[in-house]
Amino acid sequence: MNEELEDRLARVAALPKVELHMHFEGAAPPAFIRGLAKEKKVDLSGIFAPDGSYAYRDFWHFLEVYEAATSVLKTPRDFARLTRAILEQSAESGVVYSETFLSPDFCGGGDVGAWKEYLHAIREEAEACEREMGITLRGIVTCIRHFGPDKAKPIARCAAETAGDWIVGFGMGGDEKVGHQGDYAWAFDAAREAGLRLTTHAGEWGGAKSVREALTQLQGIERIGHGVQSIDDPALVEELAERGIVLEVCPGSNVTLGIWPKVAAHPIAKLRDAGVKVTVSTDDPPFFHATMTREFRDLSEAFGWQEDVFAQLNQTALAAAFCDDATRAEVAKRLG
Ligand code: ADE
Ligand code: ZN
Repeated sequence: MNEELEDRLARVAALPKVELHMHFEGAAPPAFIRGLAKEKKVDLSGIFAPDGSYAYRDFWHFLEVYEAATSVLKTPRDFARLTRAILEQSAESGVVYSETFLSPDFCGGGDVGAWKEYLHAIREEAEACEREMGITLRGIVTCIRHFGPDKAKPIARCAAETAGDWIVGFGMGGDEKVGHQGDYAWAFDAAREAGLRLTTHAGEWGGAKSVREALTQLQGIERIGHGVQSIDDPALVEELAERGIVLEVCPGSNVTLGIWPKVAAHPIAKLRDAGVKVTVSTDDPPFFHATMTREFRDLSEAFGWQEDVFAQLNQTALAAAFCDDATRAEVAKRLG
């Protein structure tokens, strides 16, 4: 690697960063999950590779491994400990503001009272980390698509009951190939009526048509998780740009899962050139050997992007963040 490139990558890596798309349980370091499994005497050896990382064959197996890893997170205290582990990891990458997907399915099974206890523990630890590390966390309550629409309803109730200055959004992850976005309209309507801002996973596996579904079958979607398969539908790309829909793009995740063979082949640059508001996130960092620093470096190397492009990506992300304006102003100071 020549010196000029190395210097650029080092400068880009050192920038502060805003991240909008990170699954809370999916960000759990494998050593943390292994430690909890040992404490609780649960055998999770099947989900780890010999080098200690998570092991899975493909996206659908990844979802299974993810749920198995989550099974050792049992108490609010476990989630508080995980909060610290995740924020240390993000702060190490220079992240100054992060939005994370939280699933009440894994925090009391959708019971509102239990969810409030888990949330209290997570928030308290996040606020301690904010004071210590200068990183702000906000939560997006997320239903899981392959658990079905009936399971999404109590999750939306959990979201509505805790909507405010910390739980700021509602979304949906999981297997995009199950059902239709419109099957979950009740949950999204309830969350929106409680004042929550909306995002949903589409265009990761379900093609451009799944992004259209998200925009036509759900009301008030402002951001799309991934959305990158929109590239196959030029009219949709134009519509995304015109409407200012923000894409939470996770290039490392897409490449690791084999949707594109390498970052240089990823459509993020084409989408950006077409005027679509793109942002950059890690999705499930340890599962995909991703960090925000690595995302920035890889994009700079693949597309020749200089610091000004990353400053712009951060500003797009901060403007699209679901937090209140006072928080946005505080974070803006950290971006310089
Ligand atoms: N849940 C965790 N990671 C996910 C992803 N990349 N796509 C959909 N659901 C998820
Ligand atoms: Zn995701």
